[in-house]
Amino acid sequence: MTPPDFTGLDNHQVRLASRPEGLPTRANWQFSTQPVAAPGPGGVLVKTLYLSLDPAMRGWMNEGKSYIAPVEIGAVMRAGGIGRVVASNNPAFAVGDHVNAGLDVQTYCLIPQDQIKRSGMFKVDPALGLTTWLNLLGMPGMTGYFGLLEVGLPKPGETVVVSGAAGAVGQTVGQIAKIRGCRVVGIAGGQAKCDWVVNELGFDACIDYKKGDVKAGLKQHCPNGVDIYFDNVGGEILDLVLTRITRGARIVICGAISQYNNTTPVKGPANYLSLLVNRARMEGIVVFDYADRYHLGIAEMAGYLKAGTMKSREDVVWGLETFPETLLKLFNGENFGKLVLGVAKD
Ligand SMILES: NC(=O)c1ccc[n+]([C@@H]2O[C@H](COP(=O)([O-])OP(=O)(O)OC[C@H]3O[C@@H](n4cnc5c(N)ncnc54)[C@H](OP(=O)(O)O)[C@@H]3O)[C@@H](O)[C@H]2O)c1
Repeated sequence: MTPPDFTGLDNHQVRLASRPEGLPTRANWQFSTQPVAAPGPGGVLVKTLYLSLDPAMRGWMNEGKSYIAPVEIGAVMRAGGIGRVVASNNPAFAVGDHVNAGLDVQTYCLIPQDQIKRSGMFKVDPALGLTTWLNLLGMPGMTGYFGLLEVGLPKPGETVVVSGAAGAVGQTVGQIAKIRGCRVVGIAGGQAKCDWVVNELGFDACIDYKKGDVKAGLKQHCPNGVDIYFDNVGGEILDLVLTRITRGARIVICGAISQYNNTTPVKGPANYLSLLVNRARMEGIVVFDYADRYHLGIAEMAGYLKAGTMKSREDVVWGLETFPETLLKLFNGENFGKLVLGVAKD
């Protein structure tokens, strides 16, 4: 067979130019172009179709110790994505296969043999919807699934509150909690998002934190208190939920998006003594700790998606060049569902 010819084909990339203070701006990014190269022995070349835009990207832009190394200045921005194999020297991946992998913010990704495992690359079934593999069946879905089930430990009849309810992690948490027989109350910004989680996803109620009084909403919708709070936002909302927890409550610290662009220190919970009074606990979760069991979460949720028991909503914005502005949608709540950057049509 004639080897594929990539002469004249360009790889367009978005690199981190500088570390932002507060919200990132276009000046923090640099666009570059390189010729596309053929894969070496055992490697693959993947054409990027969709990229996952995640709140965590803001943290990766900072210097300092975290659960993962920061993106270096000048490096192509880190991102997970869905792509199609366009050249392969690896027997596990054929040209035409759709894959989920660490593709980074670029139009082509060359993955050498020794990085295939490290990049978490695996084949996906396009019949389930390519973008679903960045949402319910991807990293955010695994976060919601394992965070709720293994840290939240839900029992039928318990009340689960989840913030960022209409987002990627939130929609997974709420739907799994309903399937496990819990009462589910979301917290989200705006009537449209609240209506969607109640009417389409089957949440019992949703509090619009941008309009209403969250404390009054919690009192009204969680008359017996909050047994599990799945926290995606931190800040003031975490503090308010702490005043409503039950004895033995579990608070899953998944994220604190309200604090990611702070130029002042992170606002910690003032009401933490409620943990003492209620013999409750707060525990953090990092999704990568569950990587060896993702297949179990994927199998269960793929079954629900096929049966129509779960829904997956993505918000796709097209164009690699829009990356700097599209990323900001996460921080002003403009994304409705999992935020995805569309890079190329399949
Ligand atoms: N620990 C882990 O392993 C892990 C893995 C994945 C994600 N996460 C975390 O999970 C959280 C949700 O991530 P996601 O990917 O599902 O994002 P997402 O919820 O799809 O999108 C972010 C949403 O956050 C809300 N938001 C933004 N600023 C806010 C503020 N100041 N106060 C309250 N809400 C605000 C907005 O929704 P509204 O319109 O409702 O305000 C926005 O749509 C993030 O904190 C993320 O860092 C953690």
